Amino acid sequence: MAYVLGIDVSTTGAKALIVDEKGMVIAEATTEYPLYTPRPLWSEQDPADWWAGVQQSIRHALTKGGISGAQISGVGLTGQMHGLVLLDERGTVLRPAILWNDQRTGPQCEKITKLVGFRQLLEWTGNPALPGFTAPKIIWVREHEPHIYAQVAQILLPKDFIRFKLTGRYATDLAGASGTLLLDVKKRNWSREMLRALDIPAEWLPPCHEGPQITGTISEAGAAATGLKAGTPVVGGGGDQAAQAVGVGAVRPGIVALTLGTSGVVFAPTAEPFIESEGRLHAFCHAVPGRWHLMGVMLSAAGALRWYHDLLAPDQAYDDFTEPAGDIPPGCEGLLFLPYLTGERTPYPDPNARGAFIGLTVRHGLPHMTRAVMEGVAFGLRDSLELLRAAGLRGIDQVRASGGGARSALWRQILADVLDTELVTVNVTEGAAYGAALLAGVGAGIWPDADAACNAVVRVTSHVAPQPAAVEAYHRLYATYHNLYSALKPTFDALTDFALSS
Ligand code: XUL
Repeated sequence: MAYVLGIDVSTTGAKALIVDEKGMVIAEATTEYPLYTPRPLWSEQDPADWWAGVQQSIRHALTKGGISGAQISGVGLTGQMHGLVLLDERGTVLRPAILWNDQRTGPQCEKITKLVGFRQLLEWTGNPALPGFTAPKIIWVREHEPHIYAQVAQILLPKDFIRFKLTGRYATDLAGASGTLLLDVKKRNWSREMLRALDIPAEWLPPCHEGPQITGTISEAGAAATGLKAGTPVVGGGGDQAAQAVGVGAVRPGIVALTLGTSGVVFAPTAEPFIESEGRLHAFCHAVPGRWHLMGVMLSAAGALRWYHDLLAPDQAYDDFTEPAGDIPPGCEGLLFLPYLTGERTPYPDPNARGAFIGLTVRHGLPHMTRAVMEGVAFGLRDSLELLRAAGLRGIDQVRASGGGARSALWRQILADVLDTELVTVNVTEGAAYGAALLAGVGAGIWPDADAACNAVVRVTSHVAPQPAAVEAYHRLYATYHNLYSALKPTFDALTDFALSS
């Protein structure tokens, strides 16, 4: 029996997942690590924590599965996208990593847009400058920490720092590289024009690889640290959203992946690079060679419900906590929730956007508020789906829901009703790490390509149909929800100014 290992360097922890050649999960281990918010809008992690977590999780997973490192035929990496890791010429980390959900770079995004031009940015990279992306973080370091910038010799994404520790090689994958704003997404290579315009040396960036392509092998040092065997191939893998999509079988046009993790994602594979005219959806390379995807990302999805649950009932199981919301009618008798708890990205790239309950009356109780949070997230995802539809993306055959939030039957029904589409779930619940393991399996020759891997191991396990009465109610309320952001924008700005100055 051959085994492959998927490693996910996520925002909350490092996961190691061992999968066999039939697609069965043999063992899983996760090691959590802290996230630091030293200032308002900042979000950072220590790359040393990722590496310690990865070492521990690999060792635990091997022990749990009763498998030796020598039995692993390939390793696939995935992880949080966009994060900036800076190394000096000896490969030493220069400062804490600046993460995808860090919102400090609003001014740098404005400067990049002014310097390059909005249309030119879309032409060169497929995307506008957003605070989550990597390039504005590089410019921020240049402006605010010139002593650090002066020592930079290598720029890596979070999972590629782990690749470096495992293999000693600098490399990245195209899906992950798409989120830097430095990749020519159409040509599937770094954009020389962008690098020149931003004056970032091309030699600071690692070579780009397709998801199943071998980028190096486990080094002697990597083997000693993890229990893996030196010489084991490590494939490109993918950013967490692309790997998640592979893990649920969203590898070809027509199958849309909807992920309710901390962030909420609508992910549509495309056969060609497809750039939304105003850049409101991310246009990235897929982890599948020769394919792309369009993506809407809301920053707080299941994260919004987690925040609300942890405030009110941290010790209660989620299903018990949300159950009373099932008795509340769709639309919560006119109560809406805006889920912009950590700013927003799609469809409003705005670090100042804030959360809100709108429409409270004395009739409303906690179950209404719980349901409003779940509905607000669903409306936010509908914003992305509407953009996909308006962009002219045709032929959505199936929407596959996954992520922690999709475990809730109530939330799945709300989503099917708000989005007015059938939702399915699949047998795979291990997320991005599973997709990374499948890509490793392709690289190791277990499956000929990602389509074959998904066909062999991913199965639909449940269907949720939209209910016409609820669809109609949500359809009416969606217009009101959709108008709230622009109505409240001046208030969001004033409150952010107030918070930053107090
Ligand atoms: C994708 C994104 C998030 C992070 C979270 O664009 O920002 O999904 O990758 O892990």
